[in-house]
Amino acid sequence: MNINRRVQTLDEFTIQQMRDFPQATGELAGLLRDIGLAAKRVNVEVNKAGLVDILGDAGGINVQGEEVKKMDIFANNQFMGVLRHGISCAGIGSEELDDIVVFNDEVSNNSKYVCLFDPLDGSSNIDVNVSIGTIFSVFKRVSPLGQPATAEDFLQPGRRQVAAGYIIYGSSTILVYGTRRGVNGFTLDPSIGEFSLSHPNITCPETGKFYSVNHGNFFQYADGVKKYIDGCQKKTKADGGPYTQRYIGSMVADVHRNLIKGGIFMYPGTTDKPNGKLRLMYECNPFAFILELSGGKATDGSISILDIVPASLHQRTPFFAGSRKMMDELEIFMKPA
Ligand code: AHG
Repeated sequence: MNINRRVQTLDEFTIQQMRDFPQATGELAGLLRDIGLAAKRVNVEVNKAGLVDILGDAGGINVQGEEVKKMDIFANNQFMGVLRHGISCAGIGSEELDDIVVFNDEVSNNSKYVCLFDPLDGSSNIDVNVSIGTIFSVFKRVSPLGQPATAEDFLQPGRRQVAAGYIIYGSSTILVYGTRRGVNGFTLDPSIGEFSLSHPNITCPETGKFYSVNHGNFFQYADGVKKYIDGCQKKTKADGGPYTQRYIGSMVADVHRNLIKGGIFMYPGTTDKPNGKLRLMYECNPFAFILELSGGKATDGSISILDIVPASLHQRTPFFAGSRKMMDELEIFMKPA
């Protein structure tokens, strides 16, 4: 096999970007390195998930007499741990924690960034070997340096993100992140244990053939959404069809596929849950940031996800995201009459 050893690792890439930007302090590069490290640790455990019954049930005691943590708690602790001990992050918000955690030590109080994450999205899929992922969002603080971070540092509209990304623990492990300078993907090379640049300058195709939605909720969707889905099923060759329905139930995998191949992902509100299921701050904002950077779109059905002013850490929002032309068509169906 011809192995390309000149491919850039995540660290080399972020350092290279810093060299191109002499005023950069390196804090963001450090933060991404920390996230990459936690992702590698989580990846090792996710890969062993099928052995849980042999080594001991999650929440129980394994054969070595150690307590086995649920995988999403384990992932949360890994991400929180590296960020707490790094030099770039003043505090975190996580799906696994009721409230923000402000690190409040001398180094962290002088750190520029705060980070929000869903440590293991799609975790109900672990038992059946389906891809799962981590999603993260990074904001620059608005509170003065030298003091502990505050809630206002976290509750900023998504458009103010300075970086966002996700990791998929799938057939391979891939980390994708975006900054104002573009979106790039890094695949974990197990032979050297490093994320290596595999998807430079990702752009979302203008249109595609995939639509991803939970059809089980169909009769609870608004009329515009139903009509759009109906239209997806009726696409002919002349309209760029036929479309294919793909829904994994792990948004990292569904949105990643549509980002790379072209498509649309929808988690609309339902009559039971008008705001849908997905969380604005650490599920929708990061994907919306990446999609807009790469030429796609993401809305709540009326405005860009990135323009929503958050009211609380765990708030939910309907979510529609994907290729620009497919989103434009959806918007026509969803316009109030
Ligand atoms: P969880 O982390 O509880 O498994 O939820 C996963 C999220 C998201 O990744 C996915 O797209 C969506 O929930 C699936 O929800 P439905 O089963 O309601 O379609």
